[in-house]
Amino acid sequence: MPALLLQTIGLGKRYPGVLALDAMDFELRAGEVHVLFGENGAGKSTLISLLAGANTPSAGEIRMHGEPVRFSNVHDARRHGISAVFQEFSLIPTLSVAQNLSLGEEPCKGGLLDRAALRERARVMLADLGFDIDVHAPVSGLTRAQQQMVEIAKGLRGEVSVLILDEPTASLTDTETQRLFELVERLKARGVGIVYISHRMQEIARIADRITVLRDGRKVTTLPAHGTSADRLIELMSGRAIAQIYPHIAASPGEVVLQVQGLSSPNGVRNASLTVRRGEVVGLAGLVGCGKSELFRAIYGLDAVSEGRVLFKGQPRTGAKVRQLLDEGLFYLPPDRKGEGLVLGFTSRANITLPLVHGPLRGRGGWLRKRLGRRLSTAAAERVELAPRNLERPVALLSGGNQQKVLFGKGMTRDAALYVFDEPTVGVDVGTRSALYQVIKKLCEGGAAVVVISSDLPEVLHLSHRVYVMCRGEIAGELEGDAIGETPVLNLFFGSSERNP
Ligand SMILES: Nc1ncnc2c1ncn2[C@@H]1O[C@H](COP(=O)(O)OP(=O)(O)O)[C@@H](O)[C@H]1O
Ligand SMILES: [Mg+2]
Repeated sequence: MPALLLQTIGLGKRYPGVLALDAMDFELRAGEVHVLFGENGAGKSTLISLLAGANTPSAGEIRMHGEPVRFSNVHDARRHGISAVFQEFSLIPTLSVAQNLSLGEEPCKGGLLDRAALRERARVMLADLGFDIDVHAPVSGLTRAQQQMVEIAKGLRGEVSVLILDEPTASLTDTETQRLFELVERLKARGVGIVYISHRMQEIARIADRITVLRDGRKVTTLPAHGTSADRLIELMSGRAIAQIYPHIAASPGEVVLQVQGLSSPNGVRNASLTVRRGEVVGLAGLVGCGKSELFRAIYGLDAVSEGRVLFKGQPRTGAKVRQLLDEGLFYLPPDRKGEGLVLGFTSRANITLPLVHGPLRGRGGWLRKRLGRRLSTAAAERVELAPRNLERPVALLSGGNQQKVLFGKGMTRDAALYVFDEPTVGVDVGTRSALYQVIKKLCEGGAAVVVISSDLPEVLHLSHRVYVMCRGEIAGELEGDAIGETPVLNLFFGSSERNP
């Protein structure tokens, strides 16, 4: 068995009023990827902040190579070879990539900054990782994915035996994700141990050696990744049986609501064709950046269409305007609730009725029909199980789960023929999740067509009657009924040849 690098014994962290981490026994061996898996608030970030010296424990012990260690800051941890890439980046936006990569260790010649050496060092660091980034560019000019890569390169500066990555692929496209996985493989081969936080099943299946599941600050169990199904992990994480989370949705496919033929878009989608019928849930799966969001952005009129056709309820609607599609019965829920979906300063009620202001709520003489708005928003809140008191509060003050319910509520004020939900449950707790799945069930069984676009593999597998999988802008395959399963879908995600057995 490979050497034990890092170990915690009874590690705990208490904040006023909350035990964020309780009696945690964890170990990391050389050359392994050890995934931390758990819902929001389970204690994952707390654990890694203790391992990385960003935080001090209130109980227990950390051992490195069998010796007890105490870190009062991240530099202490670095000296022991532990380096962490957190979700909040540590780069200085106004400085160049090269300057950031040498921060605090700038090369000097004759007492002056050696700019040539600085750039050369950065170039070597990035090339070594296979990242193609201009070292002259200011960090503020990089995409989030590029910043992530620079952050990783910075994390690997010097001698590193333990690398901690907190949801590193959250902002990466699938090509960039592939690159990160290749890097992880190389680091493993060098004997680096990697602590990896992720809730994406496809990543875990691909790179994890062991998985520690956390719930409410405690360790539930540590398991080998091989032979552990996604369903088992979900059950351990949530403490609920799969059947309690994902409802059975009856399928009764009827009339075709949406037909897309050979659609291409400047946004990267190529030659995509699909059909969606009333009375069925159609899943759209794939890695982040595979084009699944982009496909519906083009269908819904948010991005341009360069080729192909869209038929909605039998009518040609290629490149149609959002407002027209909305009025004709296509409800679309965007993936980014803060950026696109919600006005944070408005109350939930105002957000829910917003799409109606220029339609059903416009009374004679241009007056707003306030009473109708109240009635419709109250009914919508009931359908999504949003508590009445949350209707009058600004959405900025609501939890992520309740914000998502408000977004769903926007689609519940009138009957649509097609509901498209892009990442419907990202970042919400398991209670909200099952409430939202119930909404989807009722819509589908009530005769609407539902599309679920999701990077959450179990969600797609359990809810969908049919699944399209996208890869690099194209539809890589379609699965139906019993053929829908983890392995066939994952194979389409990565292209079968690239996947580990
Ligand atoms: N700085 C802090 N102050 C108070 N409570 C915190 C702090 N950081 C985390 N917590 C609490 O500790 C618990 C675990 O949080 P966290 O480790 O961030 O979970 P995860 O990363 O798994 O989502 C949560 O209840 C969270 O609210
Ligand atoms: Mg966290």
